Amino acid sequence: MNHAPLLLFGIFAALSTSWFGLVVWPQLQLGQLQPVEIEETGQIYPSARSGLAQQGADVYRANNCAACHTQQVRPGADIARGWGARRTVAQDYLFDTPVMLGSSRIGPDLANIGARQIDDNWHLLHLYKPRLVVENSVMPSYRFLFTKRAIGAKPSLDALKLPDVEAKRIEGYEMVPKADALALVAYLRSLRSDAPLFEAPLPTKPKPATLSAPSTNSPAKK
Ligand code: HEC
Repeated sequence: MNHAPLLLFGIFAALSTSWFGLVVWPQLQLGQLQPVEIEETGQIYPSARSGLAQQGADVYRANNCAACHTQQVRPGADIARGWGARRTVAQDYLFDTPVMLGSSRIGPDLANIGARQIDDNWHLLHLYKPRLVVENSVMPSYRFLFTKRAIGAKPSLDALKLPDVEAKRIEGYEMVPKADALALVAYLRSLRSDAPLFEAPLPTKPKPATLSAPSTNSPAKK
Protein backbone atom coordinates (compact mmCIF):
# COMPACT_ATOMS: atom_id res chain seq x y z
CA MET A 1 0.00 0.00 0.00
CA ASN A 2 1.23 3.52 -0.79
CA HIS A 3 1.52 5.56 2.42
CA ALA A 4 3.35 8.48 0.83
CA PRO A 5 0.39 10.94 0.78
CA LEU A 6 -0.39 10.18 4.44
CA LEU A 7 3.26 10.61 5.41
CA LEU A 8 3.49 13.91 3.52
CA PHE A 9 0.28 15.12 5.14
CA GLY A 10 1.68 14.20 8.58
CA ILE A 11 4.92 16.13 7.93
CA PHE A 12 2.98 19.11 6.62
CA ALA A 13 0.63 19.09 9.63
CA ALA A 14 3.52 18.85 12.13
CA LEU A 15 5.42 21.74 10.50
CA SER A 16 2.40 23.99 10.06
CA THR A 17 1.06 23.52 13.60
CA SER A 18 4.48 24.23 15.13
CA TRP A 19 4.90 27.30 12.88
CA PHE A 20 1.47 28.50 13.99
CA GLY A 21 2.22 27.87 17.66
CA LEU A 22 5.75 29.28 17.71
CA VAL A 23 5.50 32.15 15.23
CA VAL A 24 1.94 33.20 14.39
CA TRP A 25 0.32 32.88 17.82
CA PRO A 26 3.00 34.85 19.75
CA GLN A 27 2.90 37.50 17.00
CA LEU A 28 -0.90 37.79 17.36
CA GLN A 29 -0.57 38.03 21.15
CA LEU A 30 2.41 40.39 21.45
CA GLY A 31 3.10 41.83 18.00
CA GLN A 32 0.89 44.88 18.52
CA LEU A 33 2.37 45.98 21.88
CA GLN A 34 2.68 49.75 22.24
CA PRO A 35 4.04 51.96 25.03
CA VAL A 36 1.35 52.63 27.63
CA GLU A 37 0.58 55.53 29.94
CA ILE A 38 1.13 54.76 33.61
CA GLU A 39 -1.95 55.93 35.48
CA GLU A 40 -0.18 56.88 38.73
CA THR A 41 2.53 59.05 37.18
CA GLY A 42 1.23 59.94 33.71
CA GLN A 43 4.59 58.71 32.36
CA ILE A 44 4.77 56.79 29.07
CA TYR A 45 6.28 53.32 29.57
CA PRO A 46 8.63 52.16 28.24
CA SER A 47 10.25 55.24 26.76
CA ALA A 48 12.98 54.98 24.12
CA ARG A 49 16.58 55.03 25.40
CA SER A 50 18.75 58.12 24.99
CA GLY A 51 21.37 57.89 22.24
CA LEU A 52 24.16 57.42 24.81
CA ALA A 53 22.31 54.60 26.59
CA GLN A 54 21.65 52.98 23.22
CA GLN A 55 25.39 53.04 22.49
CA GLY A 56 25.91 51.55 25.95
CA ALA A 57 23.66 48.63 25.01
CA ASP A 58 26.14 47.84 22.21
CA VAL A 59 29.06 47.99 24.68
CA TYR A 60 27.13 45.63 27.01
CA ARG A 61 26.63 43.27 24.12
CA ALA A 62 30.20 43.53 22.81
CA ASN A 63 31.61 42.68 26.25
CA ASN A 64 29.17 39.82 26.71
CA CYS A 65 27.92 40.98 30.09
CA ALA A 66 24.90 38.74 29.45
CA ALA A 67 27.19 35.73 29.94
CA CYS A 68 26.88 36.32 33.70
CA HIS A 69 23.84 38.60 34.05
CA THR A 70 20.19 38.00 33.20
CA GLN A 71 17.60 40.71 32.64
CA GLN A 72 14.51 38.86 33.68
CA VAL A 73 12.90 39.10 37.10
CA ARG A 74 10.77 36.09 37.87
CA PRO A 75 7.98 36.28 40.43
CA GLY A 76 8.78 35.07 43.93
CA ALA A 77 12.42 34.46 44.80
CA ASP A 78 13.88 37.10 42.42
CA ILE A 79 11.70 39.82 43.94
CA ALA A 80 12.57 38.62 47.46
CA ARG A 81 16.28 38.97 46.52
CA GLY A 82 15.62 42.61 45.68
CA TRP A 83 16.28 42.19 41.94
CA GLY A 84 13.03 43.84 40.94
CA ALA A 85 9.87 45.42 42.26
CA ARG A 86 7.71 43.17 40.09
CA ARG A 87 8.14 40.39 37.53
CA THR A 88 9.26 41.44 34.05
CA VAL A 89 6.84 41.13 31.12
CA ALA A 90 7.10 41.47 27.32
CA GLN A 91 6.29 45.20 27.56
CA ASP A 92 9.61 45.83 29.34
CA TYR A 93 11.63 44.81 26.27
CA LEU A 94 9.70 46.85 23.71
CA PHE A 95 12.71 48.98 22.69
CA ASP A 96 15.38 46.29 23.10
CA THR A 97 16.92 44.95 19.92
CA PRO A 98 18.28 42.42 20.54
CA VAL A 99 16.79 41.52 23.91
CA MET A 100 19.72 40.55 26.16
CA LEU A 101 17.89 38.22 28.51
CA GLY A 102 20.92 36.13 29.43
CA SER A 103 20.62 32.64 30.82
CA SER A 104 23.34 32.30 33.42
CA ARG A 105 23.26 34.08 36.78
CA ILE A 106 26.83 34.29 37.98
CA GLY A 107 26.06 37.89 38.94
CA PRO A 108 22.76 39.50 40.00
CA ASP A 109 19.92 40.15 37.57
CA LEU A 110 20.23 43.62 36.01
CA ALA A 111 16.65 44.21 34.76
CA ASN A 112 16.14 46.86 37.44
CA ILE A 113 19.72 47.96 38.24
CA GLY A 114 18.90 51.54 37.17
CA ALA A 115 16.56 51.82 40.16
CA ARG A 116 18.87 49.93 42.52
CA GLN A 117 22.12 51.78 41.93
CA ILE A 118 21.83 55.40 40.85
CA ASP A 119 25.39 56.59 41.44
CA ASP A 120 27.38 56.91 38.19
CA ASN A 121 30.72 56.96 40.02
CA TRP A 122 29.80 53.70 41.82
CA HIS A 123 29.16 52.03 38.45
CA LEU A 124 32.42 53.36 37.01
CA LEU A 125 34.46 52.26 40.04
CA HIS A 126 32.76 48.87 39.86
CA LEU A 127 33.67 48.43 36.20
CA TYR A 128 37.23 49.64 36.82
CA LYS A 129 37.87 47.39 39.82
CA PRO A 130 34.80 45.67 41.33
CA ARG A 131 36.51 45.02 44.66
CA LEU A 132 36.85 48.75 45.33
CA VAL A 133 33.09 48.86 45.96
CA VAL A 134 32.00 45.25 46.56
CA GLU A 135 33.99 43.18 49.04
CA ASN A 136 35.44 39.97 47.54
CA SER A 137 33.61 40.51 44.24
CA VAL A 138 34.36 37.91 41.57
CA MET A 139 33.18 40.08 38.69
CA PRO A 140 36.02 40.65 36.17
CA SER A 141 37.61 44.10 35.94
CA TYR A 142 36.92 46.18 32.81
CA ARG A 143 40.09 48.23 33.26
CA PHE A 144 40.43 48.64 29.47
CA LEU A 145 37.41 50.96 29.51
CA PHE A 146 39.60 53.56 31.30
CA THR A 147 42.70 55.54 30.34
CA LYS A 148 45.54 56.09 32.81
CA ARG A 149 46.80 59.67 32.60
CA ALA A 150 49.51 61.57 34.46
CA ILE A 151 47.89 64.28 36.58
CA GLY A 152 48.75 67.71 35.20
CA ALA A 153 48.60 70.94 37.19
CA LYS A 154 45.12 69.95 38.39
CA PRO A 155 43.22 66.61 38.30
CA SER A 156 40.81 66.48 35.32
CA LEU A 157 37.14 66.97 36.04
CA ASP A 158 36.18 63.80 34.17
CA ALA A 159 38.61 61.57 36.11
CA LEU A 160 37.26 58.74 38.25
CA LYS A 161 36.83 59.67 41.93
CA LEU A 162 39.01 56.94 43.42
CA PRO A 163 38.99 55.85 47.05
CA ASP A 164 42.19 56.81 48.91
CA VAL A 165 43.79 53.33 48.79
CA GLU A 166 43.61 53.20 45.00
CA ALA A 167 44.54 56.86 44.53
CA LYS A 168 47.68 56.22 46.59
CA ARG A 169 48.53 53.07 44.62
CA ILE A 170 48.60 54.95 41.32
CA GLU A 171 49.95 58.19 42.83
CA GLY A 172 50.57 60.91 40.25
CA TYR A 173 48.10 59.32 37.81
CA GLU A 174 44.36 59.43 37.29
CA MET A 175 41.91 57.06 35.59
CA VAL A 176 39.66 58.64 32.98
CA PRO A 177 36.62 56.69 31.73
CA LYS A 178 36.57 56.18 27.95
CA ALA A 179 33.43 57.00 25.95
CA ASP A 180 32.45 53.30 26.05
CA ALA A 181 32.50 53.27 29.87
CA LEU A 182 30.27 56.35 30.06
CA ALA A 183 27.86 54.89 27.50
CA LEU A 184 27.75 51.56 29.37
CA VAL A 185 26.88 53.33 32.63
CA ALA A 186 24.14 55.33 30.86
CA TYR A 187 22.74 51.99 29.64
CA LEU A 188 22.88 50.43 33.13
CA ARG A 189 21.11 53.49 34.54
CA SER A 190 18.40 53.10 31.87
CA LEU A 191 17.61 49.52 32.95
CA ARG A 192 14.45 49.94 34.99
CA SER A 193 11.45 47.69 35.11
CA ASP A 194 9.56 49.05 38.07
CA ALA A 195 6.62 50.89 36.47
CA PRO A 196 3.33 49.27 37.56
CA LEU A 197 1.67 47.62 34.54
CA PHE A 198 -1.82 46.16 34.19
CA GLU A 199 -0.41 42.68 33.57
CA ALA A 200 2.29 43.04 36.24
CA PRO A 201 1.16 45.36 39.04
CA LEU A 202 3.52 46.18 41.89
CA PRO A 203 2.88 43.85 44.81
CA THR A 204 0.92 45.68 47.49
CA LYS A 205 1.91 45.20 51.09
CA PRO A 206 -1.03 44.25 53.33
CA LYS A 207 -1.97 47.15 55.60
CA PRO A 208 -1.16 46.51 59.27
CA ALA A 209 -4.33 45.72 61.21
CA THR A 210 -5.36 48.58 63.47
CA LEU A 211 -6.70 47.87 66.92
CA SER A 212 -8.19 51.30 67.54
CA ALA A 213 -11.75 52.08 66.47
CA PRO A 214 -12.25 53.84 63.10
CA SER A 215 -11.75 57.59 63.37
CA THR A 216 -15.37 58.34 62.44
CA ASN A 217 -16.43 56.93 65.81
CA SER A 218 -14.13 59.15 67.82
CA PRO A 219 -15.60 62.39 69.18
CA ALA A 220 -15.10 65.34 66.86
CA LYS A 221 -12.44 67.81 67.94
CA LYS A 222 -13.68 71.22 68.89
C1 HEC B 1 32.23 36.34 34.84
C2 HEC B 1 30.93 36.84 35.21
C3 HEC B 1 30.62 38.30 35.06
C4 HEC B 1 30.69 39.07 33.91
C5 HEC B 1 31.20 38.67 32.53
C6 HEC B 1 30.14 40.37 34.26
N1 HEC B 1 29.75 40.37 35.57
FE1 HEC B 1 28.80 41.90 36.54
N2 HEC B 1 28.78 40.82 38.26
C7 HEC B 1 29.27 39.54 38.39
C8 HEC B 1 29.16 39.13 39.79
C9 HEC B 1 29.59 37.80 40.36
C10 HEC B 1 28.57 40.22 40.49
C11 HEC B 1 28.25 40.30 41.99
C12 HEC B 1 29.42 40.91 42.75
C13 HEC B 1 29.54 42.39 42.54
O1 HEC B 1 28.55 43.14 42.75
O2 HEC B 1 30.62 42.85 42.13
C14 HEC B 1 28.34 41.26 39.48
C15 HEC B 1 27.74 42.48 39.75
C16 HEC B 1 27.43 43.43 38.81
C17 HEC B 1 26.70 44.66 39.06
C18 HEC B 1 26.11 45.07 40.39
C19 HEC B 1 24.76 44.43 40.55
C20 HEC B 1 24.06 44.75 41.85
O3 HEC B 1 22.93 44.30 42.00
O4 HEC B 1 24.64 45.42 42.70
C21 HEC B 1 26.63 45.35 37.87
C22 HEC B 1 25.98 46.69 37.64
C23 HEC B 1 27.34 44.56 36.89
N3 HEC B 1 27.80 43.40 37.49
C24 HEC B 1 27.50 44.95 35.57
C25 HEC B 1 28.22 44.21 34.64
C26 HEC B 1 28.50 44.68 33.30
C27 HEC B 1 28.05 46.00 32.72
C28 HEC B 1 29.25 43.69 32.69
C29 HEC B 1 29.84 43.71 31.31
C30 HEC B 1 30.73 44.82 30.99
C31 HEC B 1 29.40 42.61 33.64
N4 HEC B 1 28.78 42.96 34.81
C32 HEC B 1 30.05 41.42 33.38
C33 HEC B 1 29.77 38.72 37.40
C34 HEC B 1 30.02 39.13 36.09
